[in-house]
Amino acid sequence: MGKKYNVAIVGATGMVGAEFIKVLEERKFPIKDIRLLASGRSKGKSLKFCGKLHQVQELGRDSFKGIEIALFSAGASISKEFAPLASKAGAIVVDNSSVFRMDPGVPLVVPEVNPGAIKRHKGIIANPNCSTIQMVVVLKPLHDAAKIKRVVVSTYQSVSGWGKEAVDQLWEETEVALSEKREVKSDKLKKVKKVLPAKIAFNVIPQIDVFLPNRYTKEEMKMVNETRKIMEDSDINVTATCVRVPVITSHSEAVNIETENKLTPEEAIEILKKAPGVEVIDDPSKEKYPLPIDAAGKDAIYVGRIRRDASVKNGLDLWIVSDNLRKGAALNAVEIAEHLIK
Ligand SMILES: NC(=O)c1ccc[n+]([C@@H]2O[C@H](COP(=O)([O-])OP(=O)(O)OC[C@H]3O[C@@H](n4cnc5c(N)ncnc54)[C@H](OP(=O)(O)O)[C@@H]3O)[C@@H](O)[C@H]2O)c1
Repeated sequence: MGKKYNVAIVGATGMVGAEFIKVLEERKFPIKDIRLLASGRSKGKSLKFCGKLHQVQELGRDSFKGIEIALFSAGASISKEFAPLASKAGAIVVDNSSVFRMDPGVPLVVPEVNPGAIKRHKGIIANPNCSTIQMVVVLKPLHDAAKIKRVVVSTYQSVSGWGKEAVDQLWEETEVALSEKREVKSDKLKKVKKVLPAKIAFNVIPQIDVFLPNRYTKEEMKMVNETRKIMEDSDINVTATCVRVPVITSHSEAVNIETENKLTPEEAIEILKKAPGVEVIDDPSKEKYPLPIDAAGKDAIYVGRIRRDASVKNGLDLWIVSDNLRKGAALNAVEIAEHLIK
C-alpha cells in the first residue's frame, strides 16, 4: 500500500471547499486523515467525506499540527495569515487566493502547462486565478506551435466565481424580478445581501474585483501577469476585459490570439484535440460549441468557435469554457497535490 497523507481544507464549507471534498473523493487521493477548517460561524457543522461525517473545526493558529498537505480557499486575508503558519508547521500549502501568486519565490502552477515549477516550492504553491487557468491550458500548445505574440480576451464569468453569497444574490434578485414580473433595481431589494457591485439578474457587470490606477480591474491584471508567469514568457502581450454574467457555474472566454508563425484553424484543432485537459467541441454545421451550462461539474476545458482572425496576418479566435470551481480552483489544486506526492 502507498503512503497516505493528512490533508487539511481551509474554507471547507465554501463553494471551492465543497469541490475540494468531491474532487479528493473522486480521484481517490490517498488520505489518512482529513481536517475540515472554516470560520467560527461553521463550528459544530459536519460535512461528509468518503461516506463519513467529519466535524468542521474553527481555523486557528494550531490547526495544522500533523498536516502534510493544506488546501486553502478561504480568501486572501486568511491565506496571508495562515498559509505561512501551515507551512511552518510542516505542511505543503496549495493556495487558491491571489496573495502569493506573483511572489517570485512561489511557483504558480497549472500542471498541464508548467509542472516543472512545482519542485521549486518552499512550502507554498499558488493556484492561479480561475479565468487564467482555463485560458493558459488552451494557449500553451498553440504557443509551442506558433509563438503567441498577443492575446485579447473578454471573459463571461459566473457568479460562483465570487463565492456562495454572489450565487445567493443572483437567485434572490431573479426570484424578486420574476415575482414582480419586471426588472427590479438593486436598491429596491431588501432581502438580498449585495456582494456584487451591481444587480446581476438580467444584467452583466463589466467589473470583477476592484479598479486599479491603470483603469483595469484587479481580475484583468491577474490574467495579464499570471499568464506571463505560468507560460514563462514575459514577452506575451495580454489585454483583458472581465465581465460578470448571470450564470451560476463555468466561466466562458472569447480569446483572440496573434501569432508569430502561421497556424490554420484546422492545425489548431488538431493540436488542441491532443492537448491534455482540453476537449474540442467545434462543429458549426451542427451548431455545436462549448456552453457553460454543459461544462459545469466537468473536469475538461472546452474549446470551440476556432476560426481565423481575418483582420491580421496570423491570428485566431477561440471560445473557451470551463467549470471555475473545478479546473478553475479545486481540481487544479488537487492535481498539483498529486504531482507533489508522485
Ligand atoms: N469561486 C471560484 O471560482 C474560485 C476560483 C478560484 C479561487 N477562488 C478563491 O477561493 C476562495 C474561496 O472562494 P469560495 O468561492 O469557496 O468562497 P465562499 O463560497 O464564499 O466560501 C468561503 C470559505 O471561506 C471560509 N472563511 C471565511 N472567513 C473565514 C475565516 N475568518 N476563517 C476561516 N474560514 C473562513 C468560509 O467559512 P464559513 O462558511 O465558516 O464562513 C468558507 O468556507 C477565495 O479566495 C477565492 O478567491 C475561488
